[in-house]
Amino acid sequence: MKVLITGGAGFLGQRLARELLARGALKNPSGTPQTMTELVLLDVVAASAADLVGDSRVRTEVGDIAEASVLERVIDGETSVIFHLAAIVSGQAEADFELGMRINLDASRLLLETCRQRGHVPRVVFTSSVAVYGGALPEIVRDDTALHPQSSYGAQKAIAELLLNDYTRRGFVDGRVLRLPTISVRPGRPNAAASSFASGIVREPLNGEAAVCPVAGSTRLWLLSPRRAIGNLIAGLELDAAALGDQRTLNLPGISVSVDEMVAALREVAGDAVAQRIEWTPDARVERIVGSWPGRWDTSRAERLGLAGDASFADVIRGYIADEQVTAR
Ligand SMILES: NC(=O)c1ccc[n+]([C@@H]2O[C@H](COP(=O)([O-])OP(=O)(O)OC[C@H]3O[C@@H](n4cnc5c(N)ncnc54)[C@H](O)[C@@H]3O)[C@@H](O)[C@H]2O)c1
Repeated sequence: MKVLITGGAGFLGQRLARELLARGALKNPSGTPQTMTELVLLDVVAASAADLVGDSRVRTEVGDIAEASVLERVIDGETSVIFHLAAIVSGQAEADFELGMRINLDASRLLLETCRQRGHVPRVVFTSSVAVYGGALPEIVRDDTALHPQSSYGAQKAIAELLLNDYTRRGFVDGRVLRLPTISVRPGRPNAAASSFASGIVREPLNGEAAVCPVAGSTRLWLLSPRRAIGNLIAGLELDAAALGDQRTLNLPGISVSVDEMVAALREVAGDAVAQRIEWTPDARVERIVGSWPGRWDTSRAERLGLAGDASFADVIRGYIADEQVTAR
């Protein structure tokens, strides 16, 4: 089985690659495990992690996913699984409208079109986002709640979701759209996502540094750990197409927490001194984007299909400390 990850050098892409290599096989559409013979990592930057590039099953490809020739190079009749993760994240897509449209929307269509031309109906997992929602929302958001994105990123993801559903309905791909909660705790440095603080207010204080929280403590977020996110991407790929039917979009289970509750969990796990490193400096731009995302969800459909979120945010922090070998300072 040949597998492609677009955005394969990114945060989730590299983690997904590691997990796929560790498993070595994926269920085929009839539910039988099939050995992964090649894993192609496509990104505009080269994936450089030694464990990935050193694995004989990995092929790294550097290229722009918005170019047809690049997609034709990485998708052939043997590419039976595609995890389409490449994206311009929310803050950057809002700052650079053309780039967001080109990568989040045009390139997604081009990817689906390349699959259609190949004619081999690969399974395609597309990572969408809670940013597809917005405006006046019901108290609890479900898979089929109307989409009313309040950012260009959210609009681009919403359109790509529709495309994936239609290419599936037409039998060109076997698509699965997984709407990811905000992933926290994300290691490394802050990024251009409006939700970057959802990791920063845990990561930086644990690292002995101050962190700025740009939103009010009452702001409610919908979160998922990287560990669970990767498990769910693979479980979503392996879901029986018949169980999904013509509803190819799933909100992934997560935990609903306020920023105040996140800080309380940090205090519980790492102590007062660490939690006090958070500085509260409101940023209207971030508040507007993040505040338009819903905080409470009904994800019973995904749960019935076997997908799962984290038990608590304190557990998420403990998982981050263990996975990243963090020594709280
Ligand atoms: N991390 C989150 O909190 C979160 C939440 C919801 C949805 N998502 C979605 O999950 C996916 C992965 O997110 P991530 O956190 O790993 O983001 P990331 O920014 O770390 O990874 C995205 C990757 O796409 C690559 N990319 C950008 N433009 C490209 C191009 N023109 N051609 C090829 N590659 C290109 C980037 O170089 C990057 O490595 C994205 O689709 C994102 O929208 C993430």
